[in-house]
Amino acid sequence: MYGLILQEKTQESQFQQIYEQLREKILNGEINSDKKMASSRSIADFLKVSRSLVMEVIDQLKVEGFLESRKGSGTYVVPDLRYQNGTQKKPLHQSLSKDPLQDPKFSFLAGIPDPGLFPRRRWNKMYQQAMEYADDTDLFYTPGQGRLDLRIAIRDYLYRVKGINVSEESIVITSGAAQAIHLLSLISKGGTVAMEDPLAPFVYDIFKAQSYEIRFAEVDNQGIDPGSITAKNLDYIYCSPSHQFPLGGSLPANRRIELLNLARSTGAYIIEDDYDGEYRYESRPIAALQVLDPFQVVYIGTFSKILSPALRLAYMVVPTSLISPILKIKRKMEFIGEGLQQAAMAKFISEGHLEKHLRSSIKYYIDRRTCLINELKNHFGDEIEINGEYTGLHLAIKFADRQFSPEIQEKAAESDLMLKPVSSYSIKTVVHRNSLVIGFGLINHEDIPTAVEALSSFISSLD
Ligand SMILES: Cc1ncc(COP(=O)(O)O)c(C=O)c1O
Repeated sequence: MYGLILQEKTQESQFQQIYEQLREKILNGEINSDKKMASSRSIADFLKVSRSLVMEVIDQLKVEGFLESRKGSGTYVVPDLRYQNGTQKKPLHQSLSKDPLQDPKFSFLAGIPDPGLFPRRRWNKMYQQAMEYADDTDLFYTPGQGRLDLRIAIRDYLYRVKGINVSEESIVITSGAAQAIHLLSLISKGGTVAMEDPLAPFVYDIFKAQSYEIRFAEVDNQGIDPGSITAKNLDYIYCSPSHQFPLGGSLPANRRIELLNLARSTGAYIIEDDYDGEYRYESRPIAALQVLDPFQVVYIGTFSKILSPALRLAYMVVPTSLISPILKIKRKMEFIGEGLQQAAMAKFISEGHLEKHLRSSIKYYIDRRTCLINELKNHFGDEIEINGEYTGLHLAIKFADRQFSPEIQEKAAESDLMLKPVSSYSIKTVVHRNSLVIGFGLINHEDIPTAVEALSSFISSLD
């Protein structure tokens, strides 16, 4: 009957399947207005489904104008409905839900914390209270610099956890680190910026969009190499000194000093992106560059890695000389700040829940990381060198004699793995093509042995 088929192993309901097949056949002319439609009873008998289900589909197609009842003679396709482009074979949502890139069995994706660790109940309570105690002005647009209570809470948190001693006046709340970098890029449009390569590509895109001349700095397993920056004048130097993204290096003191000297001699501000420095496994968090020179460093912290990127909450600590240009731009974006979210975060931090959350989640990540390192050593032995494992939610593994192009991501997806090589974060450099980024935010502890085994088989299959 019209070649209709019902599949059992699909996420689509029977209604959807019958509806989509009939609609497709109408659009491609297989069922046309010349002949009366088969009765709902005969379609139902053929498909072994209830007649009421088929009648429901037919009614829907009538409501949408594909079918019409002709008085006294039954149901027909409305004339002139042929439309080739409408004949998509697979519905989009079905192909997406089956895409292993979106929903792999094991995800080594870096940069997303475990959603299972998100303190849902506590956050919900903070948000509810923020709403309950909101006065009228709390329901106005949020101040461009961010709510004062949140800036004060972050000021105290920064001092307690990272040894950064600043006034709340130098803190600006942003919608993610991405917005902080965007704001900075708007100040010196068309200027010159030096940045690490490889790096998180959104940073490159932001500066590129504002017509910056971009100078790439080399990166090794210690982090950015200031000696590789030869420019004489720079507006910014972007780096991630606590845990270089994606290679994982923690910048040693001599390079920090070299970088600060370079910033001074070139007139640059350093953009210090400390996206996951709170998770430090074998010592306390490394002192920020900002502490060494608050006049030259813009420090950016985010809640994306310690809580969730869905919150879109981050902050920047800004040198006095940059505060007013940033606020001038930021105030024009006042409608962006989410006041109630900020109020909830202020309470969450000032009542001690953030540090509590950090203390408890770090225990999970320590276990995962230890297990991951052991499994990687078991499977790959001397074949790999592990880097960047002391901080954050990912590490990098470097192979002695393998090269990985960005395309291996698709191949890995075919093996049900989400895996990115460092080369997919490289803009220009080809130096780190022998390394893979291994995130552990999205893999449960108990799955790690199987996941690493799958990784090992995948790597062998590349031979
Ligand atoms: C290097 C780096 N910095 C910062 C961020 C966080 O950005 P946001 O705070 O906008 O979520 C990311 C996110 O992936 C990142 O990779």
